[in-house]
Amino acid sequence: MDINCIRQQFSVFSDINLKNSIFLDGAAGTQMCTRSVDASVKACINHNANLGGLFMTSSRAGTEIEEARKASAHFFNAYETEEIIFGQNMTTLTYNISRCLGRSLKPGDEIVLTQSDHESNISPWLELANDSGLIVKWLPFNLCTYGFDASIATSIINDRTKIVALNYANNVTGTINDIAQVSTIAKKFGALVYVDAVHFAPHGILDVQSLGCDFVVCSSHKLYGPHQGILWGRLDLLESLLPYKLRPTINKPPYKFETGTKNREAIAGLFGAIEHLKWIGKEFGGCAKHSGVREQIVAGMTSIIKHETCLLKKTIKGLQAMEFVTIHGYTAPSTLHLRTPTISFTVHSVRSELIALQLAKKGIFLWHGNNFSPETIKQLKLDDQDGVIRVSISQYTSEEDIERFLSAMYTLRPNT
Ligand SMILES: Cc1ncc(COP(=O)(O)O)c(C=O)c1O
Repeated sequence: MDINCIRQQFSVFSDINLKNSIFLDGAAGTQMCTRSVDASVKACINHNANLGGLFMTSSRAGTEIEEARKASAHFFNAYETEEIIFGQNMTTLTYNISRCLGRSLKPGDEIVLTQSDHESNISPWLELANDSGLIVKWLPFNLCTYGFDASIATSIINDRTKIVALNYANNVTGTINDIAQVSTIAKKFGALVYVDAVHFAPHGILDVQSLGCDFVVCSSHKLYGPHQGILWGRLDLLESLLPYKLRPTINKPPYKFETGTKNREAIAGLFGAIEHLKWIGKEFGGCAKHSGVREQIVAGMTSIIKHETCLLKKTIKGLQAMEFVTIHGYTAPSTLHLRTPTISFTVHSVRSELIALQLAKKGIFLWHGNNFSPETIKQLKLDDQDGVIRVSISQYTSEEDIERFLSAMYTLRPNT
């Protein structure tokens, strides 16, 4: 990938006030690409109307939503476009679906959660368990793989298990978990599998058909788009579920799950972000101009993965050379395909908050703390609030960004 050409697709890099800034905070929210910003603005200016009217602006707005749904279906590799549900964000969608699934559960039913999950795929299920008298079982964290321990799923999932909520990629350690393995076990017992792909989606090729699960959810704001949640669910399941909905709302998926007025400008921006991935596929992925949408997205993601993996290697090597740093995640070259380019580390005897603050002063923007994954932080035996310093590589990260970050880290070497 030509990184200069990629960065030209993000207006933020031409903002004179941010000239010396380095964005290593993508796992919490990426910068928006220009195609996405333009699509959002166009939705606000050219056809700003509510849906379902018989007039031109309303019908254009409706077409725009359905185009975004189709593009999202390609992004997930869904079987049907109706399997895509839009919502405020991943957290709200998860609360919505968990409540909906809870309607058919009874006290004593079991659900399985993991110690590798972001809190958004834990709290909604714990609250449901609390309200409905469900038993909660946990897939433990594995300190060798830095993700959940899929190998013991057979001893935890049984015929009382109704729901298994899993994390595709850990947003602290970067580990990509084996979803298909656990889904296969869950399906033997008829349990539903709900997957949080928020951290995986910007760094891997999402293909719901290969996972054997029932729901996959991700967020457009980690995918170079605006704040918008996107959920895929198996169509037969979506048809049979009873969501909490207003009486006049059409009783068909996806509409029956989309409560209230949709955030059209964000959905339009999501469409723009997927157009951007297609553009990368055509420009750098060797994809023919007239190839299919899915093919273009896959080629785009493949180019991004290649670029991010180079920078991941460089970052790990640079941090490993600092004896005052401990990386919490896979580091061996042979294991890098098992992780995302999100690297969390701690500095011996210095609080993560202090390191993040010093880096911020040098124009290097990244997150520290538990990153809303307190279970993972606890398993890593780190301070539950101060947690880690997290470097998040994105498609627009340059070699120079990483070099500047690494030299800034050298200047922060603690006095011994
Ligand atoms: C792995 C993971 N899951 C879920 C979420 C929550 O997503 P949202 O902000 O769309 O609710 C995040 C956000 O940081 C995340 O990183």
